[in-house]
Amino acid sequence: MKVTLIGTGLMGRPMGERILAAGHHLTVFNRSREKAELLRSSGAEIAASAAAAINSAECVILMLADGAAIREVLFDEDPKPDLGQRTVIQMGSISPTESIGFHQEVVECGGDYLEAPVLGSIPEARAGSLLVMMGASHFLFKRWCTFLQCFGPEPLLVGEVGKAAALKLALNQLIAFLTAGFAMSLGFVQRQGVEIDVFMKIVRQSALYAATFDKKLERMLNRDYANPNFPTKHLLKDVKLFRDEAEAVHLELRTIEGIGGLLALTLDKGFADDDYSAVFETVCPSDTKH
Ligand SMILES: NC(=O)c1ccc[n+]([C@@H]2O[C@H](COP(=O)([O-])OP(=O)(O)OC[C@H]3O[C@@H](n4cnc5c(N)ncnc54)[C@H](OP(=O)(O)O)[C@@H]3O)[C@@H](O)[C@H]2O)c1
Repeated sequence: MKVTLIGTGLMGRPMGERILAAGHHLTVFNRSREKAELLRSSGAEIAASAAAAINSAECVILMLADGAAIREVLFDEDPKPDLGQRTVIQMGSISPTESIGFHQEVVECGGDYLEAPVLGSIPEARAGSLLVMMGASHFLFKRWCTFLQCFGPEPLLVGEVGKAAALKLALNQLIAFLTAGFAMSLGFVQRQGVEIDVFMKIVRQSALYAATFDKKLERMLNRDYANPNFPTKHLLKDVKLFRDEAEAVHLELRTIEGIGGLLALTLDKGFADDDYSAVFETVCPSDTKH
């Protein structure tokens, strides 16, 4: 099959490798061309524009930062791509409202649209073990489920377009909440003089434990947030999207606004492109006397 991938960033690059490994013909486009070039040696063709990339394939995978990037690529650029008879598969994390809007616009242009956001990060993208959540009609789910198995073994139909986007935001809210909560407890026991090993031993044996605690422990202890799998700026983007969608369905916003505030401060400290465990620098700053 002829597949186009737009967005060859942290996630897009390993996902491109998976598409090629599954035997498809792949054309890629990335705003910063040098990142697209990294897939050439694996067999991808590099397109000169997003429109040229889209026009060359029956299936267009979008792995872009946010809704603004998707809008630019699909609708704002000159020349405009021809979306007729093509299927757009949106795999980044955007809000259900944005996704439903893109669905309508793509259909008005004569194309098909489905959302397939993923849980998991670069290692899972490389291994093809992402959790793929599909928001689509039954027809499009059946048509594209097998193809999407190159990213994860069991793509799941969550519901119509918007439902998978909503589920993805719910999961990322949990990531933000667990990470901020763990950072606070870790900072607290450190400053109270409790042994970290004792703290972790008890947490690991308890019902409070989440695997993400151990994944982030070393980074927080070493205050080393370089080479991120998932940068702080994208987690803040998701927290903001979650906040607005939660407000629309009348949920209490104080917790999510607090976490959003912590992440915004972390960006202000210069950690936008670092791993989101850098929230520890805000919760427990290294330069504070105690
Ligand atoms: N990293 C993860 O663990 C992870 C896991 C699940 C889901 N996600 C989600 O997947 C999406 C991609 O994540 P990522 O980690 O791969 O991010 P990333 O490395 O920052 O890549 C973002 C991509 O979007 C492009 N882009 C940004 N603004 C653009 C614009 N205005 N016009 C055209 N292209 C634009 C970037 O192009 P340039 O290279 O030119 O900047 C890049 O290709 C995000 O929605 C993220 O929340 C990430």
